[in-house]
Amino acid sequence: MKRVAILISGGGSNMLKLVESMAGDHPARPVLVVANDPAAAGLARAAALGVATAAVDHRRFKGDRAAFEAELLRPILAMAPDIICLAGFMRVLTPEFVTRFRGRMLNIHPSLLPKYPGLHTHARALAAGDSQAGCTVHEVTPELDAGPILGQALVPVLPGDTAEALAARVLVAEHRLYPAVLRRFAAGERGVLRL
Ligand code: GRF
Repeated sequence: MKRVAILISGGGSNMLKLVESMAGDHPARPVLVVANDPAAAGLARAAALGVATAAVDHRRFKGDRAAFEAELLRPILAMAPDIICLAGFMRVLTPEFVTRFRGRMLNIHPSLLPKYPGLHTHARALAAGDSQAGCTVHEVTPELDAGPILGQALVPVLPGDTAEALAARVLVAEHRLYPAVLRRFAAGERGVLRL
């Protein structure tokens, strides 16, 4: 049974879907949810589902990423996860942290990578006049939003779409894609899942 730790920054809607998916004959179970903000609403939602939680306020470290990550590592290493899932986690991790979990850290990004790494993905897709948008689950490597792609879901851009409307439509796709990719990854299956 694979042990999964999930890192969040806010509401944790992706985290919830991942936690809820890990049941029955699923080859993984959630062991920890960590937030970089003690006020993250996802923490109470995770606790309500019986998952251990921790919070490390990144603002305490005033830009000293190494110090923040040293603190972040403590609850993570204590739970000895096999897999780490970044789910709406909004902090850039150092190469040292990422390398420690290389090959077993996943992230979901709200664009069809390699298009639109970074922020404001929906506004950029709309500005470019794209007819298709979507989301990507990839392995996390030191280069931001650039690791091997494990799954993608396509989402149509509709006439008159605002960034908010597109974001909401993509989020629904994220909630389908991430659990499906995690289950395959935890089972040791490889290859790109396309939804
Ligand atoms: C959303 O914008 C989602 O597209 C991205 O992270 C943000 C928050 O997600 N993955 P969540 O609700 O905290 O999972």
